[in-house]
Amino acid sequence: MQYTLVTGACGGLGGAFCDVLAERKEPLFLTGRSEKRLAALAEKLKSSHEGLEVAFRACDLRSEEDRLAFFNYADEMGASFFRLIYVAGVDTQMAFEKYDENKLLLQTRVNLEGAVSFINAFLKRAPLDGKTEILAVGSMSASTPMPYFALYSATKKGLEYFMSALHTELKGRAKVTCVLPGGIPTREDIRRNIEEHGFWGKISQKSPRAVAEASLKAVHKNRRKKVIGFWNKVIKFTTDVAPMSVKSRFIAKRWSHTEKDHFSE
Ligand SMILES: NC(=O)c1ccc[n+]([C@@H]2O[C@H](COP(=O)([O-])OP(=O)(O)OC[C@H]3O[C@@H](n4cnc5c(N)ncnc54)[C@H](OP(=O)(O)O)[C@@H]3O)[C@@H](O)[C@H]2O)c1
Repeated sequence: MQYTLVTGACGGLGGAFCDVLAERKEPLFLTGRSEKRLAALAEKLKSSHEGLEVAFRACDLRSEEDRLAFFNYADEMGASFFRLIYVAGVDTQMAFEKYDENKLLLQTRVNLEGAVSFINAFLKRAPLDGKTEILAVGSMSASTPMPYFALYSATKKGLEYFMSALHTELKGRAKVTCVLPGGIPTREDIRRNIEEHGFWGKISQKSPRAVAEASLKAVHKNRRKKVIGFWNKVIKFTTDVAPMSVKSRFIAKRWSHTEKDHFSE
């Protein structure tokens, strides 16, 4: 059985990817941190899409042992993958001085180490016949260094650069795309955060479903990188041409007033 492997499947955006692919009757292999939530999601998808094939296995993406165990489990059940959607991400937003070691390792490992490790393991199991797809969810926050969102912005930039290089390395064998969404109202703290950013938050946001659909289209077309949404393209262009000192001051002023710390353990 050839599956689409979705990390962060139980999250807001991951759930939207699962819904879109389930409607297309594409076999899904889900992962996230909680076996119980994965089982509930698999059940929900199967009961609303008759005949849909759904497998799952919990994996803490920051753990090397968990990542190895995940792929051993998939190998033992004879699963193979033709598409990887790396959605998992930790979006802690606060002054860097407030981080402790656990918090910074969690964010770095899930956003970057987990992604490159999963992609490497995926490549060893994928057909690489030109139709294989690898999609990673980056962020508009990687468009420029972001004071008060510094580590998130840096890990997403790292992911974007890695994906861009891989896009060239795997040309003709796999489609490799990194998408850069703006705000996606998936959790209560994110919805509040988008509201706090007023006009800019409003024009930058897209629904989880819209982001999932645009992302799948982008990887199907083998786009190296895709900024999601017209206004985000405008914001990205403006950010690219603005002097670093001006944009850093602008961001520091706005972002120092808001915090997000959803993944606290
Ligand atoms: N929402 C936005 O405004 C926005 C904007 C741009 C980019 N993004 C990116 O979009 C992606 C999805 O975000 P979202 O808004 O859907 O947030 P979300 O609902 O909180 O989803 C984040 C997902 O990451 C998973 N995750 C976190 N730590 C993990 C770990 N140690 N091991 C395994 N999985 C872990 C979570 O798994 P559990 O289900 O087990 O908790 C969750 O499913 C992230 O990469 C985020 O950076 C979001």
